[in-house]
Amino acid sequence: MKQKKPVKLLVIGAGGRGNDLSAYALKHPDELKIIGVAEPDKIRRERFAAKFQIDEKFVFNSWQDSLKFSEADKLADAALVATQDRMHTGPAIGFLKKGYHILLEKPMATTPEECIYMTRTAQRYKRIFGICHVLRYTAFYRKIKELVDSGIIGDIATVEHIEAVRYWHFAHSFIRGNWRNSNLSSPLILQKCCHDMDILRWIVGKSCKKVSSFGSLMHFKKQNAPAGSTKRCTGGCKIERKCPYSAIRIYLEDQPAKWLKDITPNPTPKGMRKALEEGPYGRCVYHCDNNVADHQVVALEFDGGITASHTVAAFTADGTGRRTRIMGTQGELTGDNGKIEVNIYDKNKKTMIDPMLNVDPESGHGGGDMGVMHDFVQAVSKNDSSLLSSTIEASLESHLMAFAAEKSRVTGKTITI
Ligand SMILES: NC(=O)c1ccc[n+]([C@@H]2O[C@H](COP(=O)([O-])OP(=O)(O)OC[C@H]3O[C@@H](n4cnc5c(N)ncnc54)[C@H](O)[C@@H]3O)[C@@H](O)[C@H]2O)c1
Repeated sequence: MKQKKPVKLLVIGAGGRGNDLSAYALKHPDELKIIGVAEPDKIRRERFAAKFQIDEKFVFNSWQDSLKFSEADKLADAALVATQDRMHTGPAIGFLKKGYHILLEKPMATTPEECIYMTRTAQRYKRIFGICHVLRYTAFYRKIKELVDSGIIGDIATVEHIEAVRYWHFAHSFIRGNWRNSNLSSPLILQKCCHDMDILRWIVGKSCKKVSSFGSLMHFKKQNAPAGSTKRCTGGCKIERKCPYSAIRIYLEDQPAKWLKDITPNPTPKGMRKALEEGPYGRCVYHCDNNVADHQVVALEFDGGITASHTVAAFTADGTGRRTRIMGTQGELTGDNGKIEVNIYDKNKKTMIDPMLNVDPESGHGGGDMGVMHDFVQAVSKNDSSLLSSTIEASLESHLMAFAAEKSRVTGKTITI
């Protein structure tokens, strides 16, 4: 059934994610209208306001200003909170208390206490509160979940899951970029792998009881800097041409992803070169202020004795991604790079499925960005939280798994949740 009128959305943070997710309104103007924006960066704010044709009285310099405005007038049905990791709780709780439905970027918050507080507040205010666990909304993981729930591979005994971050993506986000230092953002296992914990919890369908983890920052540190390297790739480094992590190669030559251009508001060849010469993304990967682990493994035990292992690593090639192998009592399912293979034991028969066949390769997160927006908009428009899969309650469980994994990695102990 067609929506009566578009859901009105206020966007908090017009950075990468604010833009990616808001694109839904351009594709489906009858379902969603971006009514306001809060963003301190002038260039981003003005570009966003122009792109979505926002009335200037609803263009704010900060979430605090837009919240103050909402004291007198609730300007939207919902708020999308797409600020950085450590700036989620303030706007999410503020707008929730003003009666807004909330869609919040992951990680929900950077401490277990904040996550629990946020969940309890959301329950008290009875609003729709979703977390952007975009993997749940991809055709790939939806199909895996559907197959597992159909019982085709019997009961799950164990799952092996890998997040291959890819060497250049890791260098961008977790060595040079926003998520390099847990004191500024959050640990790798929370920041990157709350998605993986969420997918494991969702597929297994049972609560996680115990977690053990190992891992460290092994490679990207000063003592491993090769002889002849300099503090910047543009500073006359002698090994730059041979280094896979060279910023010149990643940003100026190979450009393996479009969003790498976001390192500057002026992504011309000259602007990009300047960003590397002066900004954080031109730094040598062995000379940054990073502290997050570059590889980590997690062992998990769920209710009913089901187990899972998760590996995340920087040291993975381009063209890889997430791989999930689910071992059941009647068969085995492997999802790898968008394709699924189901192998039923007694029939000795392999079935190959390609759920991503009709998904636009340019769509963010394999269709997950538009998927989460679709379900959130539907849930708000029908005031029915059951239409949204990644609820705050589901997300709290997966975040607690990630916090337990980090605690185990640091203390060397098995953590009971
Ligand atoms: N779901 C996913 O798969 C996924 C992918 C990438 C990032 N993320 C998460 O999304 C969030 C945003 O990431 P990003 O890459 O868009 O970051 P970003 O830095 O590009 O955007 C954040 C924006 O918030 C703005 N901001 C700062 N203070 C503000 C204030 N007081 N009021 C309003 N806006 C303010 C910043 O100026 C910036 O433009 C992060 O928490 C990140 O971890 C999620």
